[in-house]
Amino acid sequence: MMRSRIAGTGGYLPDRVLTNAELEEMVSTTDDWIRERTGIRERRIVAPGQTTCDLATAAAQAALEMASVAAADIDLIIVATTTPDRVYPSTACLLQERLGVHGCPAFDVQAVCTGFMYALAIADRFIRTGGVRYALVVGAETYSRILDWNDRTTCVLFGDGAGAVVLEAVTEPGILSTHIHADGRYKELLTVPWGIGQGYDRLREVSGFMTMQGAEVFRHAVRMLGAIVDETLAANGMQRGEVDWLVPHQANIRIIEATAKKLHLGLDRVVVTVAYHGNTSAASVPLALDVAVRDGRIQRGDVVLLEAFGGGFTWGSALVRF
Ligand code: ACO
Repeated sequence: MMRSRIAGTGGYLPDRVLTNAELEEMVSTTDDWIRERTGIRERRIVAPGQTTCDLATAAAQAALEMASVAAADIDLIIVATTTPDRVYPSTACLLQERLGVHGCPAFDVQAVCTGFMYALAIADRFIRTGGVRYALVVGAETYSRILDWNDRTTCVLFGDGAGAVVLEAVTEPGILSTHIHADGRYKELLTVPWGIGQGYDRLREVSGFMTMQGAEVFRHAVRMLGAIVDETLAANGMQRGEVDWLVPHQANIRIIEATAKKLHLGLDRVVVTVAYHGNTSAASVPLALDVAVRDGRIQRGDVVLLEAFGGGFTWGSALVRF
């Protein structure tokens, strides 16, 4: 059976930096409150007219370049996003066209902040069952477009960006295991309660922006991420000390610290980008991974735990020998 390895990573952030000081002018908040509660200092925001597919394309091209893989050799494209350019075609189809690739399967996955973990798990299974040599897996979001910029409880938390990996079919495993979960009973705690299926008239009654019960989400995130760390280590017969790097979903530094503690990892072994990226939802894990690969922290052979938690609720992880 073939297995998959990460052959290359890529990331892209829009140019516009939105600082906490600027948010102080927009809503009733302070730089101190945002930094103390979340660890966020600034985030990137797309330019007018710039879309999720624009960000995905730049991240995908960087990953292909690092992997030394030509776009024409890609056998599968999966884009994880909550903020697609269109209702349809999928952002993956739009990305495929941008890359000049024709014919390979391309589809989107929607699991909010866990979307990249879902996409990675699916691509890994395609490779294991044969038929796919190179898979392009992207997490890309223009989350700023579903934020209510008058709601201080949510608008300070998120940012825009894209991250990507190229998976290659090999005989020795790079991706050791993937784990994905969902529990729709928590649908109201973190949601954009409107969708196209409800019709435009419903927008008079429900919000078209994201809403969140932050403290409840926080509590569940810490518990479920703690459980998935145990599940992932047990599936691989590994002890906590055997993980070299944690690349967590970048929602809140306090959630990240709780997961690192569970792994008995010092923060020097945790990739933290939340201060400068904010929460970029499906883009957050591949963006953080790309940062640590490019600055030389994550080296070939390192054991890396990726994890994420998001709306649904959904949560997931992957253990990777890089
Ligand atoms: N500036 C100043 N004060 C604020 C702000 C703000 N931006 N936002 C909220 N407050 C106030 C609240 O109104 C509240 O005031 P009150 O006590 O007078 O009512 C007070 O601060 C405390 O609010 P809490 O919500 O209890 O604050 P908490 O410590 O829980 O921090 C936060 C809030 C940062 C949102 C935290 O709960 C959190 O990070 N939750 C998890 C979010 C997350 O992980 N999401 C991940 C998935 S995202 C996805 O899937 C799309």
